[in-house]
Amino acid sequence: MDSDENQTKQEAPRADSDRVVIFDTTLRDGEQCPGATMTFDEKLEIAELLDEMGVDIIEAGFPIASQGDFESVQEIARRANNSVICGLSRAQLKDIDVCAEAIKPAARGRIHTFIGTSPLHRKYQMGIEKAEVLERVTASVTRARNHTGDVEWSAMDATRTEDDFLCACVEAAIKAGATTINIPDTVGYATPDEFGALKRMLLERVPGAEAVVFSTHCHNDLGLAVANSLAGVVAGARQVECTINGLGERAGNAALEEVVMAIKTRSDVMPFWTGIDTTMLTRASKLVSRVTAFPVQYNKAIVGRNAFAHESGIHQDGMLKNSQTFEIMTPESVGVKESSLVMGKHSGRHAFREKLKELGYELGDNAFEDAFVRFKTLADRKKHVYDEDIEALVDQEIASARDRIKVVALTVIAGTGGPQKATVTLDIDGKQHTVEATGDGPVDATFQGISSLVPHEARLALYQVSAVTEGTDAQAEVMVRLEVDGKIATGRGSDTDTMVASARAYVSALNKLMAREARRKPETMLAS
Ligand code: KIV
Ligand code: ZN
Repeated sequence: MDSDENQTKQEAPRADSDRVVIFDTTLRDGEQCPGATMTFDEKLEIAELLDEMGVDIIEAGFPIASQGDFESVQEIARRANNSVICGLSRAQLKDIDVCAEAIKPAARGRIHTFIGTSPLHRKYQMGIEKAEVLERVTASVTRARNHTGDVEWSAMDATRTEDDFLCACVEAAIKAGATTINIPDTVGYATPDEFGALKRMLLERVPGAEAVVFSTHCHNDLGLAVANSLAGVVAGARQVECTINGLGERAGNAALEEVVMAIKTRSDVMPFWTGIDTTMLTRASKLVSRVTAFPVQYNKAIVGRNAFAHESGIHQDGMLKNSQTFEIMTPESVGVKESSLVMGKHSGRHAFREKLKELGYELGDNAFEDAFVRFKTLADRKKHVYDEDIEALVDQEIASARDRIKVVALTVIAGTGGPQKATVTLDIDGKQHTVEATGDGPVDATFQGISSLVPHEARLALYQVSAVTEGTDAQAEVMVRLEVDGKIATGRGSDTDTMVASARAYVSALNKLMAREARRKPETMLAS
């Protein structure tokens, strides 16, 4: 490094050959992770943000997996403005045809087909020999090419596949017309050196390799997903498959925000670039965390709450003198805004509308009025109202706009005496119902009350409370996960009263279960 005091490097000039394509699979591999199931509307909301953020390819789902997946891929394909919309399919002709149908409305669509290539996958997953794998590669890619010119082929468990056989499979896929070749580290087993070497080996040995795009798809079982993805890029890959917040099976996938910021921040040693608007990374992270109820680890790189916090005296002193002493990228570059005091109880509609605009929200008239009423109530109860408070409030307003059940009132008697009591009033399809319930603690009493008004079979799989901002008058943000027949719905609620936030979160999860059920069989829940 130079002795120049300005150590943070400027971005290098950009060549097309150094452009790294960002392939986001939050809605497919991310959603596959237990507990991260998303509703149709949530998928559309995430896809819209990814599209706006500059994600090149959105893997929107696995259309053959369910009618819900098919419909969401199709709708995302219909709505995308910029991104290529991709659907996943196994190496089966029917899967591929269904996938093609789902992506049809997209201005630019891609079929991504895969098959296990490693000895373990051949023997135990499929019970077939090498020759048959090769035949299936050719048949599946050929079928996909009959539907679209943009076909990606993946060798599942590539990093545990014999080199010679992997070369043969990649060659067959290229010959059949694949335009992108993805080399997944499906079980997160590779190290960066190994993964880079594997890419190099394929690029050197496979005929036609120079004419296709090589891709990385790294899982994070050893915490190496981002390092492996970058090693793949350095070795010649020009597509990285990743997810927001690193969401995904087991330990997850490579985190999009980390890959993108590593490339941007260290373009001096990795002369690559992406088309991502990095100032949207924090928003994307918050959205995915809200939708899945998967909290973001406080010290998570790039998007963790502490990622730009400087606590120690020495660090704070250095930051005041020159922020580059302890900061390699600015909070603004990833969309973190200074926590700002917004308004108090005297702020009017105009100021509130301006603030919403600044935070990136556009609400219709009714939604704006509802949000304004809630803001006034909050400002009456809470001394300082921060941007984060407004975001929590509006996110909840948006999420509940279509809900059939709403929390109208809640009174809880808690304390050492027990049993704790809750009186709950819900609006169900426009009619108010009130019930009194007891429970083992105020949360239990509240949930018992809700459950007696909305009978259901779901099990509470997660209940989690955090504070939106600092201070004892901070809003509580509660996440609830409900599970029924292996299906999961998550809900989020916020309020300065933790019990009210809990009731809202529980009701929000119930609304999602009902919405999903209603799409499958209209008028089942609550029919009696
Ligand atoms: O991890 C994996 O191998 C996958 C493939 C389907 C690409 O997700
Ligand atoms: Zn995967």
